[in-house]
Amino acid sequence: MNRLSHIIDLDMYSVEEWNMIISTAMEIKKDPSKYSERCKGKIMATLFYEPSTRTQMSFQSAMIRLGGSIIGFDNPSNSSVSKGETIGDTAKIVSTYSDILVMRNPSEGSVKAAALHSDCPVINAGDGGHFHPTQTLTDLLTLTIEKGGLNGLKIGLCGDLKYGRTVHSLLKALSRYKDNEFILISTNELGLPGYIKDVLNARGCTYKEVNTIDEVISELDVLYMTRIQKERFASEEEYNRQKDVYILDTRKMRSAKKDMIVMHPLPRVDEISVEVDKDPRAKYFEQAGNGVYVRMALILCVLEGKLSTPELIKGKALNDISCKNPKCITHKEPHLPHYFRVAGDIAECEFCDERTLLD
Ligand code: CP
Repeated sequence: MNRLSHIIDLDMYSVEEWNMIISTAMEIKKDPSKYSERCKGKIMATLFYEPSTRTQMSFQSAMIRLGGSIIGFDNPSNSSVSKGETIGDTAKIVSTYSDILVMRNPSEGSVKAAALHSDCPVINAGDGGHFHPTQTLTDLLTLTIEKGGLNGLKIGLCGDLKYGRTVHSLLKALSRYKDNEFILISTNELGLPGYIKDVLNARGCTYKEVNTIDEVISELDVLYMTRIQKERFASEEEYNRQKDVYILDTRKMRSAKKDMIVMHPLPRVDEISVEVDKDPRAKYFEQAGNGVYVRMALILCVLEGKLSTPELIKGKALNDISCKNPKCITHKEPHLPHYFRVAGDIAECEFCDERTLLD
């Protein structure tokens, strides 16, 4: 199995490696022009099976600012995906045309499946409702700039914590810094999945779950708002029951600390009213802008061999067991081996992290 610096989940790397990416991004931000030839002759492929504005374009902008070139698709129906080509074959082929591959796909675990077949490093630009590690690097950079560090923060995360992949990756990352406290603000239906709570519990993190912004906003250093992920719901009816529950407006902002900041991975629908944009504590547009610098830093660290080369699969193939997550890539692409990490009578899917109880 290949050993390359794939970025599937930030937990594959050490906190020191994340900090190196963030400090590189801060250096680049001071004077991006100094880096304009660093990737001359290199090609990045962006394969987006799902819509994107920020992630796709900031990756493309990052590579162009580094002097490299880009290829790819943002509409799989214009590619041979529409003829039934698998993720593995697509990644295998495109990795022979490029030096680094960036992929977004709606199936959970799909980008790891691509990485298993790729001859160049693969970066996860969002795999369904699972993870979004490069958004997290953007968030860590923004927190470092705006709050002066990544320790000792009280962070409220609000909205769709069930399907919000940015929240999953961010919580996993912040749980590895010191003394952070999390307040999870969601409806009972859109609470954090068990596999992320397990990580918080295993790392001894302090967190609580509440249903309203009003009851906690005055305590927070950071309020991280998220969109209700319409595209992940089984039905329009189910989505309609959840939308519009959380709206951050100027009335609520009056109860927040003077130095609390508001973040959002964007796009927003209506969960932050537009008048909040004028509040100096609203940092979501700066956050989106930081995505270019952090992705420049990430591309450099990957292509210049500054990161370790972790194993993609730690468990074993148990092909007679089926992952119970219907959104897992193993159901879409049945040729994939069913890799699980086994601990006692629990088998954890290597692709989507869903747990299955063994008989
Ligand atoms: N934050 C984010 O992933 O935005 P896009 O969907 O526009 O890429």
